[in-house]
Formats: sequence, structure tokens, C-alpha cells
Amino acid sequence: MSHSANNQNIPRHVAVIMDGNGRWAKKRLMPRVMGHKRGLDTLEEMCRICSNAGVEYLTVFAFSTENWRRPEDEVSFLMGLFLTALEKKVAKMHANGLRVKVIGDRSHFSPAIQKGIVAAEELTKNNPGLTLTVAADYGGKWDIIQAANALIAEGKTQITESDLSTKLMLAEAPEPDLFIRTGGETRISNFMLWQMAYAEFYFTDVLWPDFNETEIYRAFESFTQRERRFGRTSEQLPIEQQRP
Ligand code: IPE
Ligand code: IPE
Ligand code: MG
Repeated sequence: MSHSANNQNIPRHVAVIMDGNGRWAKKRLMPRVMGHKRGLDTLEEMCRICSNAGVEYLTVFAFSTENWRRPEDEVSFLMGLFLTALEKKVAKMHANGLRVKVIGDRSHFSPAIQKGIVAAEELTKNNPGLTLTVAADYGGKWDIIQAANALIAEGKTQITESDLSTKLMLAEAPEPDLFIRTGGETRISNFMLWQMAYAEFYFTDVLWPDFNETEIYRAFESFTQRERRFGRTSEQLPIEQQRP
């Protein structure tokens, strides 16, 4: 099925909680980790679709600070998959002109993963295309704390919103316009807390490995219907933003 962005308001920055991998696999009587493997294919596909649609930033939650609590074998599979993605998928993304970034606390990752992250960011940093940011060992609370600590290290005793914003991960990107969570849960699970202040939320029961072009265009369609008032009244908005 082909889609066109005509008459659709395409968000500049899309943030996604890629949830439902485990349940996708379980439904097929497969080990949970097979869902993660398929989930990586979905991510590649979403990069392509979002690039084509004109999205500038795609930020995905791959591993939360809380996900270390999972069984050891699942965590180690996810780490293996992360390394494979860095070694095998990044070259393709580079060829497609994407910029790849990783946000989160890198210190708990293996030296090989840490090296892979630096190499991926370095290789793709001057690319003109979509910026894919992967949040790994990331937590929204962690992000705010690391920003506050960076300000303290500079000797600040009083801070403003803009001081804090500039120290957050993703400081150089606009805040997310559209937040999508697949997998049926309607919670934020400690993803970007500060940056989500005015994001439009979209929840779907579709499990991440099943998420596809049709489904993301449903999210864009829903986004198009929203009136983003940022505290103002409808009447105050520019005429082109008002709905009939
Ligand atoms: C999301 O899928 C991927 C990660 C958290 C790494 P889940 O693994 O949470 O899948 P469900 O929610 O158990 O189905
Ligand atoms: C959130 O999913 C984190 C990622 C998708 C990486 P979880 O499946 O871990 O979230 P909870 O624990 O159900 O809220
Ligand atoms: Mg889950």
C-alpha cells in the first residue's frame, strides 16, 4: 500500500516506545527474543518510511534504565542485538544518509558496544538525512539529573528552564511533536519526561514487530487532526491551524 503525505501534517520529531516484542513472539510460541529480532527489522523500515515522509528526527526507546531488571539471558540477547545493529545496520543507514545518535548512560555497556556507538555517531554525523536517535540505558529521570549535575559542575546555583534544556540529551533537536507507543500500554515508562511536555500522544495496540507503513500513517493522520494550542484558545491560533 502506498501513502502520500498530501494534506497531512508531518511531525518534525517523532518519539517512539517500541513495545510489544515479547508478546509478539509469545503469540507465535517463539522465545521472547525473536520478537526483539523482528523489532529491529521494524525499526529499519520505520527509518525508511519516516525519511520519505519528511520526518527530521526519529527517537526510539530501545532499552530503559529499568530493563536491566529483565532475565539475564534476555538482557544479554538485547546487548548482542545492539552490537549487531551497530556493526551491520549502521553502514546501510550511512549509505542512506541518516545520522545515528545514541542517548543514555553508556558506562554499563561493553567496551565493544561503546566503541560501536562512537564509531556510528562519527561516521554519520555530517549526513543530511533523518536523525535516528536510539535511547539505550536511558531514563527520563536520569536525563534530568545528568543535566542538573552538569550545571552544578559549572558552578551554577540557580538555573532556568533554558539552562536545563541545553544540558539534556537531544538538546539540539526540537522537542517531540508526536509520541507513539505500540503494544497497548498507555504509559510513558520513564521515556523523555521533560521533552514530552507538549508532545501529542498516540497509543496503539499493534505490537511493534507488526507496526508498518499503514500504521504509522494512521498515527500521522491522528496527529493531523490535533489542534496544538500550547495554552492558547482556538480563536487565538493562526487561521490555517483552526479546524472547520
Ligand atoms: C519492547 O518490547 C522492547 C524492550 C523493552 C527492549 P517488550 O520486550 O517490552 O515486549 P512486551 O511488552 O513484553 O511484549
Ligand atoms: C519501555 O518498555 C522501554 C522500551 C520499549 C525500551 P517496557 O516494556 O520495558 O515498559 P514497561 O516496563 O512495561 O512499562
Ligand atoms: Mg514491554
